[in-house]
Formats: sequence, C-alpha cells, structure tokens
Amino acid sequence: MNAHTTNGPGAVDPLLALRPWEAPEVTSWGRLPMNAVDRRSGCLSLDGDWRFQLLPAPDAPVGGEWSSAHVPGAWTLQGTDDLPQYTNIRMPFAEFPPGSPATNPTGVYERSVDVPAEWAGRRIVLQVGAAESVLLVHVDGRPVGISKDSHLAAEFELTDLVRPGGRTLVRLTVVKWSDASHIEDQDQWWHGGITRSVLLYATDPLRLADVTVRARRDGQLRVDCQVRDARGALPEGWSVSGDLDGHPLTRDREFDRVNAEEERVSDFLGEARLRATVPEVRTWTAETPELYDLTVRLHRADGTVADTSRHRVGFRDVEIVGRDLLVNGERVFIRGVNRHDFHPLTGRTVSQDDMRADLVLLKRFGFNAIRTAHYPNDPALYELADELGFYVVDEADIESHDHAHEIADDPRYLGAFVDRVSRMVLRDKNHPSVIIWSLGNESDYGANHDAAAGWVRRHDPTRPVQYEGAAKRGWADPDLASDIACPMYAPLEDCVAHALSGEQTKPLIQCEYSHALGNSNGTLADHWAAIEATPGLQGGFIWEFWDHGILQRVNDGRPVGRGGAGLYDNGVTAPGHRWAYGGDFGETIHDGAFIADGIVFPDRTPKPVMYEHREIAAPVRIDCFRHEGVVLSNHQHFRGLDWLSAEWELSSADGRTLTARAELPDLRPGGTAAVPMPFELPESGGEAWLTLRVTTAEDLPWAPRGTEVCAPQVRLRAAERPLATAMATATDGAEAESFDAGSVEVDDDGLLSHPLLTVAPTLSLWRAPTDNDELGGAALRWRAWGLDSMVRKVVSVHRDGPGVTVLAEYAGAIAAVRHRQVFTPVEGGVRVEEWAELPDDLHDVARVGSVFETVPGLDLLEWFGQGPWESYPDRGAGAPVGHHSVPVDALFTPYLRPQESGGRHGVRRFTLSAPDATGLTVALDEPRQVCVTRYRAADLTAATHHDELVPRPGCVVHIDAAHRGLGTASCGPDTFPSYLVAPGVHRWSWTLRVL
Ligand code: GAL
Ligand code: MG
Repeated sequence: MNAHTTNGPGAVDPLLALRPWEAPEVTSWGRLPMNAVDRRSGCLSLDGDWRFQLLPAPDAPVGGEWSSAHVPGAWTLQGTDDLPQYTNIRMPFAEFPPGSPATNPTGVYERSVDVPAEWAGRRIVLQVGAAESVLLVHVDGRPVGISKDSHLAAEFELTDLVRPGGRTLVRLTVVKWSDASHIEDQDQWWHGGITRSVLLYATDPLRLADVTVRARRDGQLRVDCQVRDARGALPEGWSVSGDLDGHPLTRDREFDRVNAEEERVSDFLGEARLRATVPEVRTWTAETPELYDLTVRLHRADGTVADTSRHRVGFRDVEIVGRDLLVNGERVFIRGVNRHDFHPLTGRTVSQDDMRADLVLLKRFGFNAIRTAHYPNDPALYELADELGFYVVDEADIESHDHAHEIADDPRYLGAFVDRVSRMVLRDKNHPSVIIWSLGNESDYGANHDAAAGWVRRHDPTRPVQYEGAAKRGWADPDLASDIACPMYAPLEDCVAHALSGEQTKPLIQCEYSHALGNSNGTLADHWAAIEATPGLQGGFIWEFWDHGILQRVNDGRPVGRGGAGLYDNGVTAPGHRWAYGGDFGETIHDGAFIADGIVFPDRTPKPVMYEHREIAAPVRIDCFRHEGVVLSNHQHFRGLDWLSAEWELSSADGRTLTARAELPDLRPGGTAAVPMPFELPESGGEAWLTLRVTTAEDLPWAPRGTEVCAPQVRLRAAERPLATAMATATDGAEAESFDAGSVEVDDDGLLSHPLLTVAPTLSLWRAPTDNDELGGAALRWRAWGLDSMVRKVVSVHRDGPGVTVLAEYAGAIAAVRHRQVFTPVEGGVRVEEWAELPDDLHDVARVGSVFETVPGLDLLEWFGQGPWESYPDRGAGAPVGHHSVPVDALFTPYLRPQESGGRHGVRRFTLSAPDATGLTVALDEPRQVCVTRYRAADLTAATHHDELVPRPGCVVHIDAAHRGLGTASCGPDTFPSYLVAPGVHRWSWTLRVL
C-alpha cells in the first residue's frame, strides 16, 4: 500500500501555491481539451468509497485521520458538519468576486488504483465527472492539474505518471468556495464534493481526438474526425472509416483535396471527413426520436483499428425562419420544463435510472422540451433525451446572479465564460436533442457573453444561441447575443402584444414561465390558449421540474443521504422525517421554501398541475360536437394517431357512465375529421359529457401499452335548469308536507345542529395563504384586513314556520361582512341558502363560502364535477367532468410548506361516506369550488412543514361561492382579474341530506 501523501511542513504544492480558488483567470491547468469521443468501453470505474477528510481551508494541512466518502456524491449529504445551504440570489459569503471566504471547506479524497497491466504502452486518462467548485488533482503526490466548472467533466493525462501493473495513489482535492462560486450562483442548494463518476481509461497513442456529427433531415450525414498521436507526429498511413447501421460511410476526398491544396494538412492534427446519404431517412423529432447507430474507427497504416467511437445519430434540422423556430421545417410548440440535476438523497448526483424516470414521467405528461437549468446536466441525460424524444436547450454553467453586473464585463472572467460555453458545446454537439445553446442564466449582459456567443456561432452554425440576459435588452434587437426572444415570467399580454406588433423578429419562447412554487401554476391553460392562437408565440419552459426538498431526519436535523430509499412515498416522508428546505440545516442566510417550486415532489410524485399539463398538450382533441358527429383534430407536428387507442365515455348527471370502443381516424398533423357520435344521447338525465379516453396503443420506451395520454371532453348537453331547482323538484316532493320540524335545529346563536356535523356552517373568507399569496402580497393585505380572524356576531335569528333565517356580521380590521343563511328543511335534510355582502374595501379576498366540519368516519369523497385531481378556478379547471371517487386523505396535496390545498373545481354534488355507506350528500346550486380535507385553514397556516400537521378525525368542508385563482405571483404574474373574488353580493345555496 502506498503511503498517504500529506503536505509536509514547508512543502509548497504548486497547485496550492497558485491559490486557484481566487484566480478567475485560472480556468484549468493540465486539463485535456473537451471532446465528444465516446470512451465508455473498457474504462475502469473509480466510483465507490474513497478515503476522505474535510479541511477547514484549502491550504490547511492534511491530517492523518481519514474517514470515508462515497464517490460520486456530495460530502454535504454524507455526515460531515458542512451541511447543505440554500440561497437563491445572495451569495452565501460576503467576499466580493473573485474572493472567497477564509473558512472554506475543502474535501480531500484519496484512493489507490491498480492500473491494469495490459494498459502498458497505452495513453492513460483520468476523468472526473464533476467536482464543485475547484478540483486539484495529484497522483502519487505529484501535481497533475486543476479544473473548474462544477458541471462538466475534467480529463487529465496520467500516462507518464502511472505504471501499468502497478498501484497508484490518486488524490482529488475539492475546494468548495472560489472565484468560480460567483459564477455558479444558481438558485439551488450549495454543496461540495465530487458529484459525478470518476474513471480511468486507456487509448492507443494514436487516437480519435474528436468526432463531430452533422445529420440533416434530407439524409445527408457528415462526420468530421480529428486524429492525434500521443507521441507527437502522426504516423504515416492512418485512416478513418465509419458505418451507419452497418452501411459503410465514404471518405470525403474533396475535403482531403481542399485540405491538401490549402496546405492545411498538419503532421500532428489529422482531419478526415466521412459522408453518407441515407435514402428515405427516418428523421428525428421529439415525437419521432429515430436514431441510427454510427461507429467511427481510426485505423493504423496496416488497417488494424487503433480507436473506435460510437454515436447515436438523429437526422434533423433546426433553423429560424422569420420569427419561427423550425424543426425539420415545422414550427413546433415548445412544451418545456426547466430541469436541475437533483435527488432528495444524493443532491446533484443522479443515477441513469433516475434520469430515465424523470424523462419518462415528463413524456407521459405531455412535455417535449427541457432546459438544462442552469448548467450542462449529466451526460446521460442527453442520450436519454435523444432516445425518448425531447428538444433540449443546453445551458452553460454561468450564473453570477448576486454580482451579475460587475462580472459580465470583467475581463478576469472572460476566459471562464468562453471556457464554460465552449466546453459544453464540444461535449454535447452531436446530440440531436440539443436544438439551442444557452449562454447561461441571470448574469446581466456583457462583453463576456458576446465573446462566448461568437465562439459558438463559429464552431456550430447549426443551432441558434439564446440568452435571457441579452434578450431582455430588446426582444427584437438583432445585435444582441440571443437568437430567441426568451424572457422569463413575461406577462402573457406583453407576449401577445409583441407577436401582434409587427415588430417581432425572433421566436418568442419563454425560458421560464408558470412558476410552480407551492400550490401554483394558475393561468397555465390561458397561456396555452394564447400561444396556440397567436402566430409568433411558440411556448416556453415551466419553472421547474423538481421540488428540491432534501430528506432530513427531524431528531438530529441531518440529511438522510444515500441510505434513505423507502423513507418516502407519494410525496410524503416517513414519520420522523421531512423534506428540508432553506433554513432547515441551521443556515442563517437562506431563502426558505422558495426551493420547493417544482411540478413534482422531491420523490418525483406528480403534482396536480402535471395532469392539467397532460390535457393542455393533448395530441388529439375534440374540437366540437355537431349533428353529424364529433370533430377530432390531430395536434401533433409530425405523426398520425396510429400510436394511440381510445375509448368513448358518456357521463351524465344522473350518475350513468357508458363506454364504447373508439376508432381514431387517420389524421395527418393538423388534420381534423368528424367521427360518428358513439352514443344515442339519452332523452333525460340532465347534463351530459362525452370524453375520449386516449391511451398508448403499444408499448413505447416511455409508456407501456394502455398508459393514459389525455382525456379530451366535450359537453353534449347543459344542465337543463339551475341545479338547485332541479334537485328540489327531483327529490324534495312537496316541501311543506314532508317538513319535519325536528330535522333542522338552529340554536340561538344561529348555528345549525346536525347529527353529522361537529362544527356548524359559517362564512369563510380565508384560505391558508399559498406561496403566491404570501410572496405576491395578497396574504399581507388579507391579514391586515383581519380575514384570518373575523369575529362572528349574530344579528338575528328569525324562525318563520319551518325555516330559520340567521343574519350575522363578521367583523374584520377594516370592514364587516354581512352574511345571511336561510335554513329550510327538506326531506332527509336541510337546504341552506346563503348571501354575503363584501364591502368595496374587501376587493380581492381568498374566498367567499361556507365551512363546516363533519363527524369522524366519513372517509370517502364521491363527486360529480371536474376531477379527479386537485383543481382551482385558474388551474385544472378544464379537468374532465365526471363521477369521481377519492379517499379524503388522498384529496390533499402535501405541498412542502403547508398551504391551501385539496380543492376541486366545478363540483355539482358530492357525498361523504363511511365504509357502511352511511354519511351525507350535498347538492350544489351551481358548479362550485369544494374542498374536503383534514385541516382547517388555520392548521395549515400555522405549520411550516408537512410533518407538523395533525390530521383532524373528521372532515373540514369548504363550499365556495367564489375562490380566488392561484396565479404565479411568487415569481411572475398574478392571476388574471377574471379569477379574482369581487366585492359586492355573493349568493349560493346547497342542500345537505343524510344518506
Ligand atoms: C428565475 C431563475 C431561476 C429561479 C426562478 C425562481 O429568475 O432563473 O433560477 O430562481 O427564478 O424560482
Ligand atoms: Mg438566479
């Protein structure tokens, strides 16, 4: 065993002497150039447990005491005292760029490696997948190199430093804070460690140095190879060959000739071009991710193979024509999401299986695009995107948010900008999924960006470049380094106005929109209605995929780390655990729950907005219903409907559901056709809805046969008259005769007594503020108005024959609300007619409605209305109308910071029942917002984490005459005025019966 290398007293390590953690000019030292050659076969994985110690600073002496740390992984999640910290914009330390704090956790990783004896004579390379934020490499105590960029691999040549057949000591020193941290100030947890795999591989000295593939939609393939030899001069007679799905490529002699004529032929850099034309090529798109297998070989003079690289090739074109982004000549909609590399146990270390699960889920919910916010993601992600079909905006690891302005033009950072953007492009250029390069995020706009953009445009003229910081200086300005107008959180009306202005010159695709913090994503459907209706608008990327909750033990506040699988399910953590957000690890500088802003929970459980998105993205839709039939349309860009199968479903208000097999017509993209109405519409039965339940017809890489794809719906018949009247006539009989005075009891306080209610219905104007309510300012207003603590005072209780009229006043801080309830006995129950008058001062409240609580045991909710998933007036309100049945406990969505949750929009009637079918049923006068959970709004408001909530044994039931939309005001526009609760008089009524 080799002795551990330690810095003896007085020894000056040249890597440390450079103090590279405070030198932005030093982007690397000794690092090999980035390339796209595939090196996976025959490599030696160095993943696993390494000896580890955490120093307080990079120049602190390495001690004799070692613990161990897993590679890949963040040490912040592996039992050290350096814990994760979450900040959005603010840097976690006070030093100005390029400075770093004196206390600077530095991880020293060591392990010995047995270098295979058969690597004798070969060139040996160490690859470190990712380390944050500065990597220093030593081998057997000798300095090897330095690298920065926490999200790209670094390679170092070890050929002369190691002995094949011998044992070598590799030390990787990772400095957490550096000049680079100032340009890695993304909105996420700060970690430290080696977060992607480490490996060793060997090549022949004569090797492929890079391979660049260009494959166009007309079937033209061009493969450019660079060849080098570790010994310096290239040997005579080398050659390259290649084949595509087994068909040989031809060497481009014209390229050779021009190279020769222009005397560009070099004796140390070989260049060769291979070509092929694929007849009847199967083109690649996100809908049709057709891939061909390319093998490139480098031969020695005797024809033997010195090197091989394999690639999966997709034939496709990306171009901007006018103001449209075209893929294979078609203007495509970008149904995108921003995705971080994230896992609740391992932080930024994500396995290939996890990445596949992410993308499979996105496919199933209708997404077709990913922005790799805000850095190059794990390389495996791009292969999965090629295979499953996603358009990718590949973003460079540059975000200087806190000091954006100072850094954008700082020449000391110029090299870092160009280095980060160019290395991303060199790595990912062969992926058909990558359609746009992004220069980074939230770093203002300066000469450093233009320098990086210039490099990209020269190196890869086949893809557009985008950068939000440039685009915001002018969406149509041709001089800015963004080919796309890619704003974040732009108001929809501004986007539409721009598209209609006649001044639009660039595709308008929001790089971030519809912020998913907590119960959010209001107006998503309105956005898409406008996007689809407005030429010039092409979509955008929802912010974001993940809730970045880290699984934490509550008793000691520690992250659980790698061993925690199985300690969560369905978005909820096991007892004694919780999803940690900012501040939960004792950080003093943090940004709280702002990190929990994804469309999936930390365990990837979809949030309700996913289901709405699936419908918004539906590939097949019902346009309308006419006498001659149902008009269907194909909303895809490139394929027919043959990959889908479907079933018709007719739901009517009387409780009936009929189903029938559906034949999908043969429709080209954009085509429409009428198909015969599958059912005779029953003569009576009230409101009736026709749904097309669409599923996958065969097994796909992202969905087994029978996976739900969408459920478009059309109303066949409206409710004949207001529901309340209908209910009254259908079941009440003659009211006066059936009156049973004992069945309505209202006490002198005006409160209804009912055997199934533990708390009588009163007026509610309050909801547990959502993150949008809190951060957008509404909750502040509501508290100032006292809506969370209105004081009820009975004004009068008037008994008039069988009925009772109660007048009450709810006093808040600035105004009082008058509320009237009329209780009328009906057979088996009571009808409640309500009236509330909101003074003008209360011009935008959370809700106006009734709240009551039931006895325990009524654990199943069945309803007729929109569903089954959670919905609010401006989110999910287009969910199919039907008969739904969900256990009460499953109605609630456990948003990480408890808040209003569990609502259902458009409910016509509902039943709450016990297993023995006893319980209550409520018929509503009109489709209403109903919420049934185990929590009072006050319970939710008081809790900071889900694990603090104690479910009540009964149900808390809200019936709202009006409920405010959710909007996205935590970061972006609030809901539209049409979804606000207006002052003035609100009336609603409902009839409660015992089952
Ligand atoms: C954007 C930013 C994201 C994230 C988001 C808010 O401004 O680009 O990284 O911070 O806001 O969640
Ligand atoms: Mg930011």
